[in-house]
Amino acid sequence: MRSTLFRTKDVEQSIRDTEAPEHALRKSLSALDLTVFGVGVVIGTGIFVLTGKIAKETAGPAVALSFVVAGAVCALAALCYAEFASTVPVAGSAYTFSYASLGEFPAWIIGWDLILELALGCAVVAVGWSGYIRSLLDTAGLHLPRGLSGTHEGAFGFDLLACLLVLVLTGVLVAGIKLSSRVTNAIVAVKVSVVLLVIVVGAFFVTGANYDPFVPPAEPTTGSSDLTAPLVQLVFGYTPSNFGVLGIFTAAAVVFFAFIGFDIVATAAEETRNPQRDLPRGVLGSLVICTLLYVAVSVVVTGMQKYTELTVDAPLADAFKAVGHPFWAGLISFGAAVGLTSVCMILLMGQTRVFFAMSRDGLLPRTFSRVHPRFGTPYRSTVLLGGVVAVVAGFTSIDELAELVNIGTLFAFVVVAAGVVLLRRQRPDLHRAFRTPLVPYLPALSVLASLWLMLNLPAETWLRFGLWMVVGTVVYFLYGRRHSRLGQEPTGRS
Ligand code: ALA
Repeated sequence: MRSTLFRTKDVEQSIRDTEAPEHALRKSLSALDLTVFGVGVVIGTGIFVLTGKIAKETAGPAVALSFVVAGAVCALAALCYAEFASTVPVAGSAYTFSYASLGEFPAWIIGWDLILELALGCAVVAVGWSGYIRSLLDTAGLHLPRGLSGTHEGAFGFDLLACLLVLVLTGVLVAGIKLSSRVTNAIVAVKVSVVLLVIVVGAFFVTGANYDPFVPPAEPTTGSSDLTAPLVQLVFGYTPSNFGVLGIFTAAAVVFFAFIGFDIVATAAEETRNPQRDLPRGVLGSLVICTLLYVAVSVVVTGMQKYTELTVDAPLADAFKAVGHPFWAGLISFGAAVGLTSVCMILLMGQTRVFFAMSRDGLLPRTFSRVHPRFGTPYRSTVLLGGVVAVVAGFTSIDELAELVNIGTLFAFVVVAAGVVLLRRQRPDLHRAFRTPLVPYLPALSVLASLWLMLNLPAETWLRFGLWMVVGTVVYFLYGRRHSRLGQEPTGRS
């Protein structure tokens, strides 16, 4: 039994199975390429939307410090991710490389977890996109009915625009339309310009009084059940509260969403010219740039409007409306909508590829890895997941979704950091294009830091996550373990 759970695909097999193995070994990326790529993937709903809600409800202007905390946790994880990704020379996600190193069951767990991260992440970004489109429509004097504008303050509303965006992107992915690198670069440029615009123009409208208090005093949470309180507060017997110093960490666990995507950069190790030097520069470089931009944006926005008055749908644009500048608000909404479309598409595509790989390995029904005869895309998994994500985006509120995505991602960080230490012991022979510094101390610190943020997420998020993982384990034992292609081939190593 134990040997079945930890059977590994051998590295050569993994390379044969990847869609474009030659791609994994082409070493053409520089530190600068990685940095641009990182900034392009990472900036999205986290900064454009969550900043407002979190400043308003959890941290006040101190949300800027929450970004620093979340960025530091990500930097530690990035250094571990980079070694893990560079040890097994296949292009792909944490699922692929854990299958070739840690074994089938840990790989399944990571794959199942990635479904949560990428699919729900896509839903979060779609909901954020919808907020900015509504803000644009409002500026133009067009108003969607409340019942079709998403859930707000507990009042249910179907998020029509978010649902439509996911359906359209699903169609685009099925048809195999890819954004050329020129279009991608243009989108990154628009997105970064909008962020810079918020910082530079917004700085003229900052009022010092809005920063008082910078760290608002702790307030007991009211009206909701204990399950909405961060687990750490319940475990240590604090009265569940928002704001205060604890609020900075609660907020960090949510704004962590703004950094998701940099792990995709770390997986580019094998395509990097000089991974040992360029990978940390690229990954840490993009993290530092994003952290600086996030801190600057949150400082400016909470200075433009009192944190209690920030809006939750399109806070960056609405702050400009509040100071009487609808033109800037419109420009920001437009740029945000363009930028968020590409983030949403990258997450959805990443997700369908993980599902496809799991199905190709027999861990999920093989029918999902059939490729469309004309378009050459994994259309069945794309349609299934796109449909589910569209419904989820329509029906669920953004913060609940983001918290679930975050716990899933942080869990993957814990597994990956532990995996680095484990693999150094078990397979010291493997070539590592990039080696994490200070093993085992740095990975241990990364595990603790990720766990700490996880503990700052609400108890109900833990319950939902636990449920998802239990379902995953049941699916593996009832289906995956028996249908695994590896189990049917003599190549599986125990
Ligand atoms: N980091 C990405 C965002 O904030 C996923 O939208």
